[in-house]
Amino acid sequence: MNYVRMPIEVESPEERGYASIRFNLAESSVRDRTIADLGVDWRDLVLAYADHRGRPDLLSLIAARAGAPVREADILTTTGAAGALFIIATSLLTAADHLVVVRPNYATNIETPRAIGCAISFIDLAFEDGFALDPARIAAALRPNTRLISVTTPHNPTGAMLDAATLRQVIAIAEARSVNVLVDETYRDMAFGPQPPVAASLSPSAISVSSVSKTYGIPGVRVGWIVCRDAALMTRFLAAKEQIGICGSVIDERLAQAALAQGETWLSSLQARLREGFATIEAWMAGEPRLEWVKPAGGCVCFPRVRPDVPVDVEIFYRVLLDDHAAMVGPGHWFEMDQRFMRIGYGWPLADELAGGLAAISASLDAAVGGG
Ligand SMILES: Cc1ncc(COP(=O)(O)O)c(C=O)c1O
Repeated sequence: MNYVRMPIEVESPEERGYASIRFNLAESSVRDRTIADLGVDWRDLVLAYADHRGRPDLLSLIAARAGAPVREADILTTTGAAGALFIIATSLLTAADHLVVVRPNYATNIETPRAIGCAISFIDLAFEDGFALDPARIAAALRPNTRLISVTTPHNPTGAMLDAATLRQVIAIAEARSVNVLVDETYRDMAFGPQPPVAASLSPSAISVSSVSKTYGIPGVRVGWIVCRDAALMTRFLAAKEQIGICGSVIDERLAQAALAQGETWLSSLQARLREGFATIEAWMAGEPRLEWVKPAGGCVCFPRVRPDVPVDVEIFYRVLLDDHAAMVGPGHWFEMDQRFMRIGYGWPLADELAGGLAAISASLDAAVGGG
């Protein structure tokens, strides 16, 4: 494995130091919460090794949200969704295999396969197509040694979503060629409209991944999960988990269980908060002629770009944004995209921080456009 640190992690707000950022629009989650918010009294929690597959009442909650035919036995908890993606990539791909993956993407979906050294075909999503995924492109990219197709919905960084019909088409392509399809569903509960089914509920070829990080606002609780109805594959994933760390953290899994147990009460307050943030950014975009966007269909981020005809010096833009305004967005290069693109998170900042951050972006554009 040839590990390389990813810019999205090297330059992340937590690595820079949260205290140095006044307007943090770089996060892809909702506001971080505390143990008190979860109402957990854990003084009697026994600090033994945990069930290797995951805490049973946590697995039940995940299975209930996934719906039939997903059962507890089809679920494995992991160290965040990141840990799930790592286990899946390293279990399924070798240097002799081929992967078809959507780009841009959450960086780990690309970087771990790169570290493995497998062949990769990228399905590059285009602004001009509304960042929509055409399953025919996936079918055309398949090779005899393709082992895995990898998609993300709702998509990070664009907020684009696969509707249920498109998701079924992607799965049908995978089934027809006996390859697996990984669906990173980390933002599924943040869909603005109807949620497509959990992919793993549709086929044993599909592998769904999610976590408590984004929707539940507790990314410091390192709990994610894999859902898959292929029992042999799940045994392989479990073997990987056991070799990495035996089991999950009992503390983290207790907190994750408490978060999921808040169920609809939490999810409806989350949706209200997302709607508010989205309305703020929508109003700002309407009055910011130098930017254009594909409106997201879910999640808590969007991926606008400086219009191609606007003469911007992107280096000046990002420098002024950070140095003069202490404001941060996710620059395009985090996603292997042109620096004219920027990911803006509207779920994490409080209302005044979001407004201040958006004003800082406009002010930085003033400084960076037309040599100003
Ligand atoms: C699409 C997607 N998948 C996975 C992850 C990893 O999240 P975590 O490991 O915190 O669950 C992220 C984090 O940004 C993400 O955006």
